[in-house]
Amino acid sequence: MGVSPGPLDLTIDPSQIEGEIPQALRGGRMLSNGPGWTRIGDRTAHPFDGHGYIRSLALQHDGSLRLRAAFVQTPSYVAEQAAGKLVHRGLGTNTSDHFWQNLSMGPPRNVANTTIVRWGDRLLAGWEAGAPYGIDPVSLETRGEEHFGGILEGTATLAHMRKDAQQQRLVLCSVAMGRNTTFTFREIDADDQVVQSTEAPIDGMLFTHDYALSPTYFVLGGNPLRLKPASLAKSLIGVGTMLHAVAPDIRAATGVLHLVPRAGGPVRTVTLPDHAFVVHFGNAFERDGDLIVDACAFTSFEFGEEFGYTGPHGNFDPTLPEKRGAQRVYRITVPKDSDSATWELLTEHGVDFPRFHPEHEGRETPWLFGATRKDKRFSDPFDSIIGIDLRDPAFPEQLWTAPDNVFVGEPLFAPADDAEDDGHILALLTDGLAETTTLAIFEATRLADGPVARIPLPLLPIAFHGDWEPAP
Ligand SMILES: [Fe+2]
Repeated sequence: MGVSPGPLDLTIDPSQIEGEIPQALRGGRMLSNGPGWTRIGDRTAHPFDGHGYIRSLALQHDGSLRLRAAFVQTPSYVAEQAAGKLVHRGLGTNTSDHFWQNLSMGPPRNVANTTIVRWGDRLLAGWEAGAPYGIDPVSLETRGEEHFGGILEGTATLAHMRKDAQQQRLVLCSVAMGRNTTFTFREIDADDQVVQSTEAPIDGMLFTHDYALSPTYFVLGGNPLRLKPASLAKSLIGVGTMLHAVAPDIRAATGVLHLVPRAGGPVRTVTLPDHAFVVHFGNAFERDGDLIVDACAFTSFEFGEEFGYTGPHGNFDPTLPEKRGAQRVYRITVPKDSDSATWELLTEHGVDFPRFHPEHEGRETPWLFGATRKDKRFSDPFDSIIGIDLRDPAFPEQLWTAPDNVFVGEPLFAPADDAEDDGHILALLTDGLAETTTLAIFEATRLADGPVARIPLPLLPIAFHGDWEPAP
């Protein structure tokens, strides 16, 4: 993640590919987003603040792969590329060690680096506290902040967006945080019209990165935050960063989930069996009136060293996340008439980046996939991919572990056309020592057999989230 890698357009010939790209995937593409440029001038930006770098990995009908990549042309990217240094503050990065130079920098910059989804005639590159950026799906050129005809004008949304496949709706969530937190969920139809808008005020300051969607509810993690007054003061005067100004509030008796009725009405708060700081959700669905939610949760959490960030003058240290302890994936059941949930651990492995059949959002799905660690004490950095069969009460799992020193990215599920429980998994593998990236493709239900195709790529910067776009 040194210098900016710049735009890419190259083709990997079938002769370079180990195995072959499955016929069922040809014509489709994997999309990926992440911080492509973090060493900016003489400072290293926190990965949350690195510039969004969109990657399109098209699996072509002749068995080749076409890789294209482009930076999102946000104002801060354009300014920092021209200046050759950090110009705007980020969530976890200051522009200078001298606090007076960090003053009056305004809100953190939107670097559009976290998610990428296809909606209508554009790709949407999401970031945590701004509008998504619209990207041309063919040229990858940046069109600008996407406000959906003015609906989102002046409104920040979460990077994570959900799609209600059955109703063909895109869901965007805005979070307004003060002493209390107000969530606004907007459901947008295929014509870009808001067909439902739901506002839900919840007591206290909450950390929210993701949410789940069932036919009746939006599901939020009850992740209480507290301000660290001294750190907030440091942030405000330009010495510290905003990311360090808050911390999870561990004084709460136990974890909770907040269930926001999609049709409006009072929020249901349900208690969990133990502390849980939920960053990513898998699926949610309803069965006989009970709500079932799959979620990845930490028991304790601190901000600041994500992805091994050691500060503006340090190198990334991939062992840092191990200090934080693993996050675990639970199947949470909220009974119809109770505000007390139960949960089952789905695997002994630590899991993040939960993914499943994209058409099954909000209804029962047979498989859950995630990035994991062979060593059950840890979760990230990930070296394995896990697939959990949710139909069997014993939750049998399949695990594939990458070679030594290879990190595994978010596994995307590309569904088969003709079977609900079949498809492929695509994941980017990064070998920092060999300085290569590989796209590995697996048969989803035979993960443990290893990849059916390994496609060699140039070393790509780390990615956060992606999406599978099937053949048109
Ligand atoms: Fe995320």
